[in-house]
Amino acid sequence: MSELLRLDKALCDTGKWSRKEAKTLIKTGKVCVNGRVIKKPEEKFDFSTASLVVQGVPVVWQRFTYIMLHKPAGVLTATEDRRQKTVLDLLSPELQKQELRPVGRLDKDTEGLLLLTNDGALGHRLLAPKSHVDKVYYAETDGTIQESDIAAFEAGMTLEDGLICQSAGLQRIGEGKCLVTLREGKFHQVKRMLAARGKPVLYLKRLSMGTLKLDETLAPGEYRPLTDQELAALTADPV
Ligand code: URA
Repeated sequence: MSELLRLDKALCDTGKWSRKEAKTLIKTGKVCVNGRVIKKPEEKFDFSTASLVVQGVPVVWQRFTYIMLHKPAGVLTATEDRRQKTVLDLLSPELQKQELRPVGRLDKDTEGLLLLTNDGALGHRLLAPKSHVDKVYYAETDGTIQESDIAAFEAGMTLEDGLICQSAGLQRIGEGKCLVTLREGKFHQVKRMLAARGKPVLYLKRLSMGTLKLDETLAPGEYRPLTDQELAALTADPV
């Protein structure tokens, strides 16, 4: 289905530029559509077929926006909250208007990779239990991981409160430091599994989700759009 969209809106939808930046780029002749310089931000095109080049670089227009956020500790994974700061509060006003939703949830004190998108279908697909998308966490614990802990994770665990946890990866990478790989995402799962082994979590950070890896050049609180390669890999993940 073709859809005509204003040029400045299309640039803004990529998450790479604000509406103001998009207008400036267009008015200063830096944007070509179908090989022609277009200087009117309001001019409309069908970007599902039109070619878009900004400052000499081809840009793939996307119907949806995909943002990688390095979630800092101290903010809620929610879209709004009356009293506390949420991950959406960290985004620019332009992005806040795009109805982005976090894909999955990190605890308030957990840091690391959080994908935000308005592509509901992709979000569902990545979270569906049958999708088995691996999530890798770096954890610091009170107490060092033993072989018996690794075996218990591997076997799967039933916690005291009856929560059944499927087989998970546990790798010791130093004194009180480990990597945990989960294929599911139950409430406080990493913390609860490690606590059940007598290794309470002191610090937790998500490093990856499927093929998507946290860009370590992003400081906590910073974000950027996914690259075309990251998006292609994520949407091609076997499910
Ligand atoms: N497991 C947890 O315990 N907390 C998180 O934030 C994510 C996974």
